[in-house]
Amino acid sequence: MKPVPDHISDLIVGGSGMLGGLSVQLATQNRQVFVLARNREKLELLANKAKRGNLHPLVCDYRDRNALDVVFDSAPSPKFDRIICWSHDNADFDIPNYFAQFAAKRFVHIVGSAAANPAQSGKLDDMRREFSAHHPGIVYQVVVLGFSILSGASRARWLTHDEICCGVMDALNHQEKTHIVGQVSPWSLRP
Ligand SMILES: NC(=O)c1ccc[n+]([C@@H]2O[C@H](COP(=O)([O-])OP(=O)(O)OC[C@H]3O[C@@H](n4cnc5c(N)ncnc54)[C@H](OP(=O)(O)O)[C@@H]3O)[C@@H](O)[C@H]2O)c1
Repeated sequence: MKPVPDHISDLIVGGSGMLGGLSVQLATQNRQVFVLARNREKLELLANKAKRGNLHPLVCDYRDRNALDVVFDSAPSPKFDRIICWSHDNADFDIPNYFAQFAAKRFVHIVGSAAANPAQSGKLDDMRREFSAHHPGIVYQVVVLGFSILSGASRARWLTHDEICCGVMDALNHQEKTHIVGQVSPWSLRP
């Protein structure tokens, strides 16, 4: 992979599914957007939708550390202005932490609603503390994907892709340490 100027580049890990709209939108804003996922066809479809040449597919399984090392192997290491990381599979290494080494300024960690479970209060603070210990100087922002309460307020649904993309874009445009997309309370309504 070629090094890119660090002030205009984003890496979006898992950016071809529900975050596909966000990947395209950022690429049309004149940013160089690198999207990492496994399925080449889906990535190429996104690249075709984006402003010509601004969306760069990185085809890789993020659970395969050797494959990641090959993708990111260049000297000097490319640094991305922002990394937006949506990875919820496990591996024998810490996947978000692996990508964080390539962040120049900001790491935006997208997590599911479980991270806001009131029974595990303090989890987000723990994540933040651990990140800062490993990556001092990099701004760490957590985006929690919540749910949407339906009218009548007795039931809720999961967020649509549009709601998720708009919410993450909103988080990128602000600097809160924790940004909730939708709602996470009352927790008892979680779908
Ligand atoms: N709170 C909420 O409302 C909420 C939260 C989470 C999810 N959802 C919903 O649930 C649906 C399914 O969620 P999802 O988790 O499958 O998200 P998704 O964003 O639709 O797909 C996961 C993304 O990560 C990539 N990916 C997955 N495994 C990978 C791997 N091992 N290596 C590299 N890239 C990988 C996928 O591309 P490849 O498959 O090509 O690798 C894709 O880009 C979403 O579409 C959304 O509608 C809702």
